[in-house]
Amino acid sequence: MTESLAGKRICVTGGAGFLGRRVCAELGKCGADDPFVPRSSEFDLTQPGDVVRVFEQARPDVIIHLAAEVGGIGANRASPGRFFYANMAMGLNLIEEARRRGVEKFVQVGTVCAYPEDCEVPFREESLWDGFPEETNAPYGVAKRALGVMLAGYKQQYGLNGVCLLPVNLYGPGDSFDPKTSHVIPALIRKFCDAVDAAARSEAGSTSVTLWGSGEVSREFLYVDDAAKAIVLATAMLDDPQPINLGTGCEITIADLAAQVARICGYTGEIVWDATQPSGQPRRRLDTSKAASLLSWRAETDFEIGLRTTIEWWRSQRRQMSGVVS
Ligand SMILES: NC(=O)c1ccc[n+]([C@@H]2O[C@H](COP(=O)([O-])OP(=O)(O)OC[C@H]3O[C@@H](n4cnc5c(N)ncnc54)[C@H](OP(=O)(O)O)[C@@H]3O)[C@@H](O)[C@H]2O)c1
Repeated sequence: MTESLAGKRICVTGGAGFLGRRVCAELGKCGADDPFVPRSSEFDLTQPGDVVRVFEQARPDVIIHLAAEVGGIGANRASPGRFFYANMAMGLNLIEEARRRGVEKFVQVGTVCAYPEDCEVPFREESLWDGFPEETNAPYGVAKRALGVMLAGYKQQYGLNGVCLLPVNLYGPGDSFDPKTSHVIPALIRKFCDAVDAAARSEAGSTSVTLWGSGEVSREFLYVDDAAKAIVLATAMLDDPQPINLGTGCEITIADLAAQVARICGYTGEIVWDATQPSGQPRRRLDTSKAASLLSWRAETDFEIGLRTTIEWWRSQRRQMSGVVS
């Protein structure tokens, strides 16, 4: 189903990021030429002139736009203005230049954060505009939502083929484990691994790990390789910017997630919830039936296996960083 990408010149913005590396690997499997990946050190996509240079160098048939400034609740709260500006500006510049140059297709990767705070569960694509997103991620979510509208307008007025995908929270090897920008799964893994290591080093006995919020909110998680497969399928098969959810359709509370991650990490100490810190949106679960019917795609990775793979990857990274050969 991805044969149509063979021989295409594809530009993957953000192609060196967590999701981008997996998308480029997936493109390689379907015979597409090596994608052009504009690195931020050379091309600042918030700047129109840099975007023009990307098109001049890449001469793309297709753009898969993944570049973004992203992070968990802490990062969103620290930089709401920057997150709105950077994500809006990158998309605006790229979509407009794609139209001017007549590219065949523009694939916009949005986010579950675009959904209204009180959206009926499971979130259906038709509910995207039923309310305002949860405040901690609203600037990021609204910028991504607006770019979906821009694509719809560009299809209607200029005939630009667009694709608009809405993935849930992603996880997997290669994710950011930087406490300033990490999402919930890497943040939990890092805290529990640190606690296990600290306990092993000391005779102190009992340990505790403090986590943000109440633990009562729920989230849905998609393994990064499953997301990459869906994005490449959608790039090959779709040309209409109607929003399409990408997820597993499975919901887990943060408290249950924390318990599962702690168990796999081997952490047996206390978990303390700091309810003075924000929890974010109350519930998140997607209706994934549209992706199933349009792309014949379903997420394949078992959650326990995906978590174990991610934890093992992080442990190997830490061993490398500390110079320990295992
Ligand atoms: N991670 C998730 O849970 C999740 C969930 C839903 C949707 N998404 C969406 O998926 C996409 C990829 O996310 P990710 O988690 O892979 O993010 P990531 O690892 O932070 O990668 C983002 C990439 O964007 C590039 N970038 C940032 N600012 C740029 C600029 N001004 N000019 C050029 N490039 C810039 C960076 O390129 P350099 O490496 O060259 O600096 C970076 O590699 C984003 O659109 C995000 O909104 C992610």
